[in-house]
Amino acid sequence: MVFDFFCAFGSLYCRQIHQLLAYYYMETPASPLTKTQILDQKNAEALLGGGQKRIDQQHKKGKLHARERIELLLDEGSFEEIGKFVMHRCKDFGLDQEYYLGDGVVTGYGTVAGRLVYVFAQDFTVFGGSLSETHAEKICKLMDLALKNGAPIVGLNDSGGARIQEGVLSLAGYADIFYKNTLASGVIPQISAIMGPCAGGAVYSPAITDFILMVENTSYMFVTGPNVVKTVTHEDVTSEELGGAMTHASKSGVTHFVSANEVECLANIRQLLSYMPQNCEDDAPALPYESANEQRPVLATIMPQNPNHPYDMREVVAEIVDTDSFFEVHKHFAENIVVGFARLGGRSIGVVANQPAVLAGVLDINASTKGARFVRFCDSFNIPLLVLEDVPGFLPGTDQEWNAIITNGAKLLYAFCEATVPRITVITRKAYGGAYDVMNSKHIGADLNYAWPTAEIAVMGASGAAEIIFKREIAEATDPAAKLQEKVQEYTQKFANPYRAAHRGYIDEVIYPEQTREKLMRAFKMLENKVATLPKKKHGNIPL
Ligand code: HXC
Repeated sequence: MVFDFFCAFGSLYCRQIHQLLAYYYMETPASPLTKTQILDQKNAEALLGGGQKRIDQQHKKGKLHARERIELLLDEGSFEEIGKFVMHRCKDFGLDQEYYLGDGVVTGYGTVAGRLVYVFAQDFTVFGGSLSETHAEKICKLMDLALKNGAPIVGLNDSGGARIQEGVLSLAGYADIFYKNTLASGVIPQISAIMGPCAGGAVYSPAITDFILMVENTSYMFVTGPNVVKTVTHEDVTSEELGGAMTHASKSGVTHFVSANEVECLANIRQLLSYMPQNCEDDAPALPYESANEQRPVLATIMPQNPNHPYDMREVVAEIVDTDSFFEVHKHFAENIVVGFARLGGRSIGVVANQPAVLAGVLDINASTKGARFVRFCDSFNIPLLVLEDVPGFLPGTDQEWNAIITNGAKLLYAFCEATVPRITVITRKAYGGAYDVMNSKHIGADLNYAWPTAEIAVMGASGAAEIIFKREIAEATDPAAKLQEKVQEYTQKFANPYRAAHRGYIDEVIYPEQTREKLMRAFKMLENKVATLPKKKHGNIPL
């Protein structure tokens, strides 16, 4: 009985499939085509996605086709496609009359700089790259392969979100992807490029991945577009203002990189991958490096005479790391902290540096979350951390307090505390207050802390400190201003230096700035085989 049912069901199902194939691919007994010609025809059809007309429209908008993007991303000729002939199964709202091979997403694997990478590219020419049940299945299959084989996955997103005709099947497909994104997080690097208008569900998978890249003027990310916004909040806003590349790079921090065009974006992905290992069990690839004179005299000239004057920490980074190796992440967001990948003696490191040139390098909410996210990525993937510290503390004020600088600042603290990769800090100037603790101090597990002679390690700046602890003495003085100056001097002499901390061993060595690169190269080499574990737990509870 059960057997009969399956036979009947099976033959009905097969008949339907056959009808479909016959309709679309001329597989009728009368077809004049040979089997090879049928395959040729299908291959040619699959390459065209939603058709030449729509590809031309895509080009007119300054966008590439999904397949062109894959060609540019991967090493030449390395792409192997999976699921080229997959078709959707929906029959509602006219979809039984419209089929495209591949169903709006090109999936497969290839290499970047000779290393295995999985890639999917949504094809906007097929139903606006919208996500159907089968489209989602293709992406999930790829993610499973990437996880099992321990290699990064790159998503080139260009999608109108859930395929509206498919209803809950599409929502289920999204949920499957989100779930796999989460399982893969911290196991393999996941990179998302946004290369068109990505709406609805199309933005949440990228949001779970490690890095997001956007393209100026052609890519958008929003949960709901300008029309819905107008209806709900009565705001008039353009797509660019609401969810364009610079909006997400500078205001929301959703995107980590902005590129002028798609070619640059794809080149950025290649560069980004070059700093990463294939998976969490692996080490990042090292470039060959021949040691030379590692002294950098310029470092001794960067610090201004006046300790309250700004300087650009990027100049310090550039001098310390291998020439032109610094690849900044989140460049336009929370510019008071600088984070990015670099190489030191050919080896990948992650750099987290306060930026005295912006807001005096103060830690605020955005700087804390930016730093924390980067630290956690590096720690997940065995990339050692270098911290360059010049920080006057956390930013005071109602705006910060009411928006939870406490919780957000704690994210950075937590991220450093739980990081087990080699961790070194160089205090270039100010290390004040709680920020001293937070910025990878030895007390929270850093392996080595160095300081330049210009370092000032104290609870706060000298004038603030003098005003508080000598308040009465100053008020009762015949010349309060002179008294304040005297006390500021006294406090400065005592604390505006690295030696108290060095006497305690909190600072391992006070180094000459010009020696910094050499010291760090030796220290990271010494820490190369570091083993550190956290207490057994299911997972920690980072203050989100
Ligand atoms: C089916 C879609 C589609 C979709 C676009 N198309 N989005 N088909 N489902 N979601 C089709 C169009 O019908 C059109 O088909 C082609 O793709 C190109 O679309 P255009 O509108 O002509 O392009 P453009 O003007 O560039 O506008 C792109 C767009 C717009 C901004 C993405 O299409 C749009 O707003 N789409 C709907 C976005 C949306 O609301 N998605 C659902 C979100 S809900 P033809 O045949 O003319 O080429 C969601 C829930 C998941 O995602 C939540 C999970 C957490």
